[in-house]
Amino acid sequence: MAKMTALICRECGKEYPTEALHVCELCFGPLEVKYRYEDIKGRMSKASIQDGPMSLWRYKDLLPIEGHPAVGLHAGMTPLVHAKNLGAFLGLDELYVKNDCVNHPTLSFKDRVVAVALTRARELGYETAACASTGNLANSVAAHAAQAGMQCYVFIPSDLEAAKVLGNLIFRPKVVEVEGTYDDVNRLCSEIAGERRWAFVNVNIRPYYAEGSKTLAFEVAEQLGWRAPDQVVVPMASGSLLTKIWKGLHELCLVGLLRSVRTKVNGAQAEGCSPIATAFKNGRDFFKPVKPSTIAKSLAIGNPADGYYALKTATESGGSMESVTDDEIKEGITLLARTEGIFAETAGGVTVGVLQKLVKRGLIKKHDVTVAYITGNGLKTQEAVVDSVGRPFRIPPSLAKFEHTFGRQGAA
Ligand SMILES: Cc1ncc(COP(=O)(O)O)c(C=O)c1O
Ligand SMILES: [Zn+2]
Repeated sequence: MAKMTALICRECGKEYPTEALHVCELCFGPLEVKYRYEDIKGRMSKASIQDGPMSLWRYKDLLPIEGHPAVGLHAGMTPLVHAKNLGAFLGLDELYVKNDCVNHPTLSFKDRVVAVALTRARELGYETAACASTGNLANSVAAHAAQAGMQCYVFIPSDLEAAKVLGNLIFRPKVVEVEGTYDDVNRLCSEIAGERRWAFVNVNIRPYYAEGSKTLAFEVAEQLGWRAPDQVVVPMASGSLLTKIWKGLHELCLVGLLRSVRTKVNGAQAEGCSPIATAFKNGRDFFKPVKPSTIAKSLAIGNPADGYYALKTATESGGSMESVTDDEIKEGITLLARTEGIFAETAGGVTVGVLQKLVKRGLIKKHDVTVAYITGNGLKTQEAVVDSVGRPFRIPPSLAKFEHTFGRQGAA
């Protein structure tokens, strides 16, 4: 029997068939995937998961596909690093970094959502993959489409970092730079999606795509020895990732793999684009769209699709939200690099900066099992730190010159 029973409207509960639909025709609410958890519970155990592939597909039973995984077979199962040095610096005993800087194949957590979205798109008979992206999603769609032999169009704002643009072109998709913000890109893509039979992973395939983010909760719980963390810190653009981490933890309870979840879900944004964090800090359950201006381009969504649900999640879980300036983002990147040897992109700087603020405010405590989600790789956003990392020492190939620069062995 199919584990996925319907798409269901998050607002009015109307159910739809599991096709390429994303908006409720009655109330325009977003659709999400509904599962038959009792059946999944009988099928899934800690042992069956541990015997599964070393990828996110070990959680196939809780992912929205009908057949076998077909695209993105190696995404997920990234390291959960016990960040003892950063923890000591911040005064935390049990700080962990979920390191999606090293996700396969394009070095961000978007490899998770794309593996799921394109496997589902293939099941629904699509031959062209597309997306509206702040950078990382485009890289991942382009790479996975190349591997899957699909036609591909990626749409990005025209001001992205060089490595993110190159990280599309190398896979030979049609790369469309739109003169405007991500929100302009997204609006255009919604119009195109209405005209063409393409799998826009975060438009018409969005309910399936978003489910891929749950694997960041599943893996963390497994890697902690089947425990839910006390606190998570999650970067937000559309807010989808944050809501899906919460959904994923609860699903593990529903299928009997966790006994309880008391995780506080904390959201992180850049001050130059913080519609969700600002609403939270003002005690509002709705946000005001903004025009982004920040070095954290991957998080630069001024009108976040899941902003309302992200606010609800943080509130319900007892978590919080914070934002950081561009300088604090750079400091966050260098602090993580210096203490843990992990080079994160600007979104990682946002997470670390916000983590630091939440600790200072006393909201995250010394003994809390805390997971900081580091979702993208620093080699893609070199522009952010190139002026603050110094220069190499340049010397001729001469021992004398070397010793002149660094002193002699044994010298004080
Ligand atoms: C590196 C990185 N982290 C986090 C996010 C936030 O994702 P979401 O839109 O699900 O909030 C993005 C989105 O593009 C991203 O690229
Ligand atoms: Zn509805």
